[in-house]
Amino acid sequence: MGLPPSLHEHVNTMKNETLFPLYNKGEQIDTPHPPPQKPQGGPQQAHARRVYIETYGCQMNVSDSELMAGILTQSGHQTVTHIDDADVVLVNTCAIRENAETKVINRLKHLNHRKRRQPELIIGVCGCMAQHLRDRLLDAAPYVDLVMGPDAYRNLPVALDSLTGGLEAHVSLKDRDPFLGLRLDKSEDYADIAPIRKEGIRAWLTIQRGCDKMCTFCIVPFVRGRERSLPLKLLVEDVEKLVDQGFKEVVLLGQTVNSYRDNGSNFGDLLYAVGEVNGLERLRFTSPHPADATESMIDAMASSPTVCKHLHLPLQSGSTPVLERMRRTYTAEEYRDLVMKLRERIPDIALSTDVIVGFCGETEAEFMQTYQMMADIRYDSAFMFKYSEREGTLAHKALPDDVPEAEKGERLKQIIELQEQISAEINTTAVGDTVAVLVEGESRRETDKYYGKTDGFKTAVFPKADSQIGEVVNVRIHNTTAHTLIGQIV
Ligand code: SAH
Ligand code: F3S
Repeated sequence: MGLPPSLHEHVNTMKNETLFPLYNKGEQIDTPHPPPQKPQGGPQQAHARRVYIETYGCQMNVSDSELMAGILTQSGHQTVTHIDDADVVLVNTCAIRENAETKVINRLKHLNHRKRRQPELIIGVCGCMAQHLRDRLLDAAPYVDLVMGPDAYRNLPVALDSLTGGLEAHVSLKDRDPFLGLRLDKSEDYADIAPIRKEGIRAWLTIQRGCDKMCTFCIVPFVRGRERSLPLKLLVEDVEKLVDQGFKEVVLLGQTVNSYRDNGSNFGDLLYAVGEVNGLERLRFTSPHPADATESMIDAMASSPTVCKHLHLPLQSGSTPVLERMRRTYTAEEYRDLVMKLRERIPDIALSTDVIVGFCGETEAEFMQTYQMMADIRYDSAFMFKYSEREGTLAHKALPDDVPEAEKGERLKQIIELQEQISAEINTTAVGDTVAVLVEGESRRETDKYYGKTDGFKTAVFPKADSQIGEVVNVRIHNTTAHTLIGQIV
């Protein structure tokens, strides 16, 4: 619920996620295996494998898993939807907070049980946690066969080959060296790869990889490397193809999506260009950085009928000194001014955010500034986190993680309660309104009802009547909860 609010695992007032493995069989990091190869297309793999991909963390990881499926399929492998059918399990992981990594380690232990009855089952750890822990993963989970970071997925076919086939096809998996693919590559944008997506009405499209911002708390720049944008022309063509495939809504993805840049074109230009694709019903993006919220981005949001009037605008803290320690590059005042400007230009804009409590040195008074900021701005929803120190970040090197765990918990509880109340109040004001809802699917609890999203990304539930999935219907709201609008098609 919430756009993948920010790109990362959502703790929100409702949900969250996260992942890890190997022992040293004599390791090298940056793959001593053959160099990355561009897949040739078409089945050609001597040892075609059935691969099950499991995804943790943010929407960017979901998008990367679709990319991996594309790379594997192009080289003759097959992805499967049930783990029992697999001879390879790839766990695509998150490293944003410690609990994300703990979750993956536990999952890997569980997967290792499968190896007892299926000794040739390949277990691979991909994504941010793989890049973060590198070969240390093998200390925690020695049974892991493959460790691969976000810029090395082109090597997947080569990796599977080296773990199964080759001249030593008789060598069992347990006697082979694990495959490590951990080189970050600024030139890798996977522009030539066609991802394989699940059918549905919403498609996620990566327009940018990596991050150059270096917020002191954040591991992303270290595990996803430098920022790079995909060509505008190619992205427009991608969206045209997605519409042809039946997708109604596209969500553009990037760590700081609005710092997108392609030759002379900026993010606003991209929004306009994609917004004009024939047949595209709705266009969203996540997550922008407040410091890059340019006029052209705001113009595109205000004027393109396709661009949804919803902005996920990570705040992190309402205190300028904390923002400085976080190196967010904006002050609390600048953030407030930006929100004011957005609301002037786009009066019905829905706003959501990310907030961290208990960052290094956060005093009670600094925390209260965050609380007050949330009370003043009144976000439609928020994803709220306790600061989790990540090894390798600038904060880990230079700032003590000195807010006691219990205090972090207490502060988190306070803002969650505040936000729950605000979300519920905002939803209540929708009673009596008629809102346009893009129908997404059958309600899990009541099969005679559909659910869908409003333009502002609120979930609405309503009796199906004669509506169809993929259609935009007008729903009159007669009841609400903190997270859902309940109504009837009119
Ligand atoms: N630019 C990214 C931000 C990625 S991280 C985006 O667009 O989503 C997603 C959120 O996780 C951040 O906005 C921040 O609120 C939170 N986060 C990041 N690092 C964290 C840490 N070390 N501890 C707690 N929360 C963190
Ligand atoms: Fe992380 Fe800041 Fe980039 S939160 S992803 S370093 S914008």
